[in-house]
Amino acid sequence: MDPAPRLIIATRNAHKTAEIRAMIGDRFEVLDVTSFPECPEIEETGTTFLENARLKAEGISRVIEGWVLSDDSGLEVDALGGAPGVWSSSFGGEEGNHALNNARLLREMAGKADRRARFRCTMVLAQGGKEVAHFSGTVEGTIIADARGAKGFGYDPLFVPEGQAATFAELGDEVKNTLSHRARALTQAVEFLAGNA
Ligand code: IMP
Repeated sequence: MDPAPRLIIATRNAHKTAEIRAMIGDRFEVLDVTSFPECPEIEETGTTFLENARLKAEGISRVIEGWVLSDDSGLEVDALGGAPGVWSSSFGGEEGNHALNNARLLREMAGKADRRARFRCTMVLAQGGKEVAHFSGTVEGTIIADARGAKGFGYDPLFVPEGQAATFAELGDEVKNTLSHRARALTQAVEFLAGNA
């Protein structure tokens, strides 16, 4: 049997890689850029999820052989005009500090009646420095007033997906991976790879 083809995830976020690996199963050998010290650091200078996902997938596939899949994702809150959006990971003032991000979100949502929000994920598949296809997934939900749950990452303790009573951080990956923005984008990417890889 041929070895599974390699799919490189353009992230250093081990949690994202684990979510994607769990969803893809063993059709691909899923690695991320932490396995490739030669990988350049890609600055996310875009103003949309697609621009940032494209920068990461194209930049990394320029130096690594095989399929590269990037994901750019974030939270859009209606009462905040779509913020934090592409700036989700540094909303609290420090890149990747989830506690600060959640604290700022709670502050800005204090007293707001409209709690609607969604996670959005855009994925780009690239090879040889060029985008081959892109995909997008969303999950609608609401922002609660007090964090609940210890699983997941980021804004998960504050986000209750539509149709559920629990937050993503209470539901855990098994349920999250059937509903999430990332799962929905990834399903499309996997279908594309099945027909083209
Ligand atoms: P990225 O790594 O540039 O895509 O930024 C993603 C940021 O959006 C993360 O740091 C989180 O703050 C937020 N985010 C994206 N997806 C999720 C999720 O599934 N749960 C919670 N927060 C998320």
